[in-house]
Amino acid sequence: MSKREQLKKIEEEAKKCKKCPLWKTRKNVVFGMGNPETKILFIGEAPGYNEDLKGIPFCGKAGEVLDLLFSSISMKREDIYITNIIKCRPPGNRDPKEEEIEKCREYLEKQIEIINPEIICCLGRHALKYIFKKYSIENKKGISAIHGKVFEKRDIFSTIKIVAFYHPAVAVYNPEKLKILKEDFKILKEI
Ligand code: URA
Ligand code: SF4
Repeated sequence: MSKREQLKKIEEEAKKCKKCPLWKTRKNVVFGMGNPETKILFIGEAPGYNEDLKGIPFCGKAGEVLDLLFSSISMKREDIYITNIIKCRPPGNRDPKEEEIEKCREYLEKQIEIINPEIICCLGRHALKYIFKKYSIENKKGISAIHGKVFEKRDIFSTIKIVAFYHPAVAVYNPEKLKILKEDFKILKEI
């Protein structure tokens, strides 16, 4: 089975998922989109209003910022794969709860396993916390201290690079943050 077919299979399971209470208020499960053969996986936080309506990740204001960042380094969405920590929208866009993240992790874990990326880009502190924990990376600093930095995790078979970014939503009404994000994105060209 191709990576695309494998992902499709899990997406079909996720669409029926009722493992945490967020299924009750969602309109659509937002599983992820992009190129399953990519080397770069982007992980956001959770679907928002627009994403929930359309079933597509980052299709609202934060998505506009993200597309601007991609074009600033001549990258396209089709070059990467993008998903979120949890696949259903928390009501009112509140932060995801620990127990929701725990219930939902099976999907993200399978996505990582299938795509097998060389670079994981964490958009915001929730994604960063999750990925640092998964790869046992010790970090006590907040995102404002480590954005734009690359962390490496090696094992005998491979090296995975993890990059921390501010969440694009913080740049929607903040040109300063947008400038920082644009600077930080340049690192993707280098690595
Ligand atoms: N914010 C996220 O973290 N993910 C989305 O898909 C949209 C907004
Ligand atoms: Fe299932 Fe995840 Fe949606 Fe909760 S957020 S219902 S665990 S897909």
